[in-house]
Amino acid sequence: LPMLFAGLAGGYVLGSIPFGLIFTRLAGLGDVRAIGSGNIGATNVLRTGRKGLAAATLLGDALKGTVAVLIGLHFGLEPALAAGLGAFLGHLFPVWLGFKGGKGVATFLGVLLALSPVGLLAFAAIWLGLAFGFRYSSLAALAASAATPIVLWALGQPGVAWLFLLLAALLWWKHAPNIRRLRDGTEGRIGQKG
Ligand code: G3P
Repeated sequence: LPMLFAGLAGGYVLGSIPFGLIFTRLAGLGDVRAIGSGNIGATNVLRTGRKGLAAATLLGDALKGTVAVLIGLHFGLEPALAAGLGAFLGHLFPVWLGFKGGKGVATFLGVLLALSPVGLLAFAAIWLGLAFGFRYSSLAALAASAATPIVLWALGQPGVAWLFLLLAALLWWKHAPNIRRLRDGTEGRIGQKG
């Protein structure tokens, strides 16, 4: 049990690093929360027009989840799952930003990379297909995240599947404004400036 708490807490600290906010500030672009959707994630950083910064945000927000899980795996699968959950919660609810964090897509990917590379490939295939087809980042992530627990179950990773069922539920909850905009036809397209 102490290992689970350590995983959760360590993961949280790593996950709460807001790379999108840090990178856009360092680039002299001000506060990314003042543009587009107001989110701190790569999709919204792309609305500054800086593709490199968006890619760095995606990578940073993903790899903090990967690193948390890989450290946890040294202590077993359960500490690793706790670390992945901690990193995801840290990204969604960072204490440093008054618990107003991101929507979780990149960190979801990073945690998945460490626990199931094949699951990540399935996510990427669904995401890319929908993103190129419809050009909504949110729609692609909503569909791909919902499919992930089912894919993991089919791959024979039930413990990991349960974690991703929880992560997908949190991701959907954080996308409530996007779901509303998709329904109303007012959601911003990928790359559309904010
Ligand atoms: O699923 C991508 C999500 O992060 C959408 O971001 O900025 O369009 O709300 P945003």
